[in-house]
Amino acid sequence: MINVTKTYLPPLEEYTAYLQGIWDRTWITNYGPLVLELEEKLKAHLGVKHLFFVANGTIALQIAIKALELKGEVITTPFSYVATTSSIVWEGCKPTFVDIQQDTLCLDPQLVEQAITPRTSAILATHVYGNPCDVEAIEAIAQKHQLKVIYDAAHAFGVQYKGQSLLNFGDVSTLSFHATKLFHTGEGGQLLPMMMS
Ligand SMILES: Cc1ncc(COP(=O)(O)O)c(C=O)c1O
Repeated sequence: MINVTKTYLPPLEEYTAYLQGIWDRTWITNYGPLVLELEEKLKAHLGVKHLFFVANGTIALQIAIKALELKGEVITTPFSYVATTSSIVWEGCKPTFVDIQQDTLCLDPQLVEQAITPRTSAILATHVYGNPCDVEAIEAIAQKHQLKVIYDAAHAFGVQYKGQSLLNFGDVSTLSFHATKLFHTGEGGQLLPMMMS
């Protein structure tokens, strides 16, 4: 049997050494030292300035939509995990589906531009299977039409694009650390805002 989503688990002794520290401190939530340490290590590893852990990749998307105060229509892809679309609906916006490119399986920027209406507030694109979206074309369209850009980067942990982290594009990128992902925390996710005030 070839298990394509077999969860990676570290050697048990390494894990229990961490548990010993947690038991000694009796501190398992609210900015515990392990979360802060992992955030710092991931910032360095991923080459990003800001990142925050949240409960999962779906919540990361919903917080991104809320934080950017999106309203009206959000142009997105039908070829993604359901959370990409459901987060738009949960946050009271309307998803507008646009087709994908054959080679990357990511949103087709030309079709994105054609789908823009006066009610469009953002583009929510997925880097499908870690293939980068056409981030330059999407950036140009977003600037021209004053739209926000969120990248669902659940599949794009550690992906480099033209010498830098793919996570440095758009207004916000989101990661999922679900057990099926390349890097995981069992359940978990991250929000990576480009700008912080
Ligand atoms: C593209 C994509 N977006 C969002 C999610 C949602 O992440 P989570 O399961 O951590 O809520 C997933 C998870 O499978 C995903 O593959």
